[in-house]
Amino acid sequence: MGQIITITSGKGGVGKSTTVANLATAIAKEGKKVVAVDFDIGLRNLDMLLGLENRIVYDVVDVMEGNCKLSQALISDKNTNGLSFLPASQTKDKNILDIKKIEKLLDELKTIFDFVLIDSPAGIESGFEHSVYLADRALIVTTPEVSAVRDADRVIGIIDAKSKRAKDGSDVEKHVVINRLKPALVEKGEMLSIEDVLQILSLPLIGVVPDDEKVVSATNKGIPVVLSDESLSGEAYRRIAKRVLGEKVDFLDLRVKKGFGSFIKGLFK
Ligand SMILES: Nc1ncnc2c1ncn2[C@@H]1O[C@H](COP(=O)(O)OP(=O)(O)O)[C@@H](O)[C@H]1O
Ligand SMILES: [Mg+2]
Repeated sequence: MGQIITITSGKGGVGKSTTVANLATAIAKEGKKVVAVDFDIGLRNLDMLLGLENRIVYDVVDVMEGNCKLSQALISDKNTNGLSFLPASQTKDKNILDIKKIEKLLDELKTIFDFVLIDSPAGIESGFEHSVYLADRALIVTTPEVSAVRDADRVIGIIDAKSKRAKDGSDVEKHVVINRLKPALVEKGEMLSIEDVLQILSLPLIGVVPDDEKVVSATNKGIPVVLSDESLSGEAYRRIAKRVLGEKVDFLDLRVKKGFGSFIKGLFK
């Protein structure tokens, strides 16, 4: 049976969809069968991050409403073997997802895939509770900003109170992803540090992704940054994928490099 991992956040725009696209790709590259499911109804953009927007015919609501079979709605990824994608519906009604129908769909996905990665709406949106209800694990994405971290903290409370696991007396395994860290700002004391964020959320860290313009260009190309060898953000996502699979991997050293190297660099500016 596959595992359901919901990628969620308190605030919008912190990098959930980017995280789903990259982790789904990286986990599939490790030889697992993965499906990325877009539950951000009405706001779909995971399709663009994967470069699959032109291939959409049916969506997650069509499957739940019986308009098509699951196999008809699943789209094979262009870049990565073993990765499939299930698009969100463009409907404006964010409450269209019914929990019984979601459960049936996710149960079916779990029989086919090793990992079901759900791209969730932000915690303030309706539809959020549905996307975390059946999660085995949750990755809470936040940027190192006070407002984002505070909203993430609320979302953790909701998962602990309202998930199916919570109702059954067990726990959803939760980890934090810190995205868009700018080490230079942290060193100047102008951005929350990794330690600051973890102290507020009191959850284990699964990865830190630096702010990286390569993420933006990858998004525009529809090819996740994890597929480019030279980007630091891609390396960060590859390491998170390995940790999801249970491997112990060192954290990236994101400190600003001082000394001779930066001196030389300075000369050529
Ligand atoms: N590590 C990063 N470095 C630079 N830009 C990023 C990074 N992560 C996300 N972004 C950008 O931030 C914006 C929001 O990301 P997205 O994944 O769509 O967030 P969400 O799904 O949480 O709304 C996008 O324009 C994306 O390209
Ligand atoms: Mg999104």
